[in-house]
Amino acid sequence: NRYIWLSRHGESQYNLEGKIGGDAALSERGIKYSHKLVEIVDKYIPNHDRLEVWTSTLKRTQQTAKYLPFPKKQWKALDELDAGSCDGLTYDEIAEKFPEDFKARDDNKFEYRYPGGESYRDVITRLEPIIMALENQENVLVITHQAVLRCIYAYFMNVHQEESPWMSIPLHTLIRLEIKAYGTEVTRIKADI
Ligand code: G3H
Repeated sequence: NRYIWLSRHGESQYNLEGKIGGDAALSERGIKYSHKLVEIVDKYIPNHDRLEVWTSTLKRTQQTAKYLPFPKKQWKALDELDAGSCDGLTYDEIAEKFPEDFKARDDNKFEYRYPGGESYRDVITRLEPIIMALENQENVLVITHQAVLRCIYAYFMNVHQEESPWMSIPLHTLIRLEIKAYGTEVTRIKADI
């Protein structure tokens, strides 16, 4: 059987402030996770001597991968859903400054495209090369962002793509997908930090 390993970046400064988007650094707790991840990989990923680590081009995923002693690859296609004019705002600020957008997103989170940014559907489209590469590879740990992981997760779990925005992808948890002939089994390994 084949495994795919997924993790969100560690908690970032923006996560603490409730802001979306941006290119913030990790918080203290996020840095703890980046250290803990080394132990977790060592303990839970078999054949990790052949592991490859994929990140986005954003600081918080690279900082999370920092202490992992494996070959790394950065993909622009793994960057977080682009929130356009709402980048750097909290959800409260979005509701106040762009009330119509806030409502439109609530009505159809999958299709809603941020002004000058992306929708979940857009993210799925740009993830196609990543998903193709993951279909052909083993021993990959993908460290990326919540919205992106929701889409990758839904794909491998055979969940309808329209449901991607509601997949639960918690912080500080390594997700193991075991790809079997008749479906995917998921194991979540929570970091104790
Ligand atoms: O904007 C990026 C967030 O990680 C995704 O959260 O789609 O639930 O707002 P949301």
